[in-house]
Amino acid sequence: MQKEFTLRYDEYASDKELVAADAELLSAARKATAHAYAPYSRFRVGAAARLANGVVITGTNQENASYPAGICAERTLLSVAGAQHPGVSIETLAISYHNEKGISDRPISPCGICRQSLQEFEQRTRSAMRVILGGETGKVIVLERAGLLLPFAFSADELK
Ligand code: THU
Repeated sequence: MQKEFTLRYDEYASDKELVAADAELLSAARKATAHAYAPYSRFRVGAAARLANGVVITGTNQENASYPAGICAERTLLSVAGAQHPGVSIETLAISYHNEKGISDRPISPCGICRQSLQEFEQRTRSAMRVILGGETGKVIVLERAGLLLPFAFSADELK
């Protein structure tokens, strides 16, 4: 038997086509890149999330001279959410970035480890997390839930 996954997402030509709340969150993610600590890659990533209670939080990549000790913006944000706002789900997460040359003209999407962490956050809060991916300019992608980015995810259910 052959089975398939279907990934549906919305693509917008630019941030101008987004509803106001999404445009604001993407703007917060872009601004957050100023607080990245990325002296090694010089690739600055900013994440901003609107929580279910309306509060907006941010996270940025935090690198380390021992490279694997560095952490991505998305997981920094999830740590802020879990530690500072326990039990509150994330309604929407926006991710933006720019590289050393200031280039940021297309969306980037979360790395594999972050996808794993995002899907577990959704699972534990029993709530879909919309995801907005966009650079400083260019097209913007919106997914209805983070778990779509990780088919066949390993989950806590398997440990039982
Ligand atoms: N990075 C993120 O923070 N999020 C992503 O989605 C991709 C990569 C960071 C990790 C590292 O500090 C730098 O970007 C280059 O990989």
